[in-house]
Amino acid sequence: MANELEKENAAQAAMDFVEDGMTIGLGTGSTAKFFVEYLAEEIAEGLVVRGVPTSEQTRRLAESLGVPLVDVEQVDRIHLTVDGADEVDEHAQLIKGGGAALLREKIIANASDLMIVIADSSKSVEMLGQFPLPVEVTPFGYTITAKKVYDALKKAGVLKPMINVRTGPGNKPIVTDGGNFILDCSCGAIPEAPLASALLSNIPGVVEHGLFINLARTVIIGSDDGATIFEY
Ligand code: A5P
Repeated sequence: MANELEKENAAQAAMDFVEDGMTIGLGTGSTAKFFVEYLAEEIAEGLVVRGVPTSEQTRRLAESLGVPLVDVEQVDRIHLTVDGADEVDEHAQLIKGGGAALLREKIIANASDLMIVIADSSKSVEMLGQFPLPVEVTPFGYTITAKKVYDALKKAGVLKPMINVRTGPGNKPIVTDGGNFILDCSCGAIPEAPLASALLSNIPGVVEHGLFINLARTVIIGSDDGATIFEY
């Protein structure tokens, strides 16, 4: 079960990595929200940083809290990105995208000098795959793409992938910030996550997927009375 105090403590611990003058990728989700709130508090006390939001949701939050933002097209360097995760394993491999923001999250994480994951202890897993893997696909041909996604996951050792288009109000497919659909792929376990990542990336129609391999270098897991920092 997700724990709000653990999320908050993980977010607070990430503040130790923030320095004056940084451009910071702002993640999406309930854990990243705590980080944006801590950042806003420090900014009110004189910290000078700029944020690059990974979703419209985070953009609205940051703006409402007075966090200065910079247009992603104007950024020449992102020093740090702090973001949550749906699952993190012992190699700092992640599943992300539960909040449908995985495309911008991955672009920003990949462009950052350092990606820090902040999470409550429920996100820590031995093997990725209990959480359904989000795959962002173009609306055009998404049923064809879904079949190719199924084949790729089978090749990566998933026994019985179950793929559903994520829907919202009125049972209509939800549309991401990038104008795409999300396929939620229930896997149970993904034995070969790097292979799954490579195969999925190769499918026409797949815009991006929620496997983050070799992106996070620091993982902060919150506890009731603090946080543990793992460096990779
Ligand atoms: C957003 O698309 C996701 O990648 C989130 O970072 C992830 O779902 C974690 O969200 P919580 O912090 O709300 O669990």
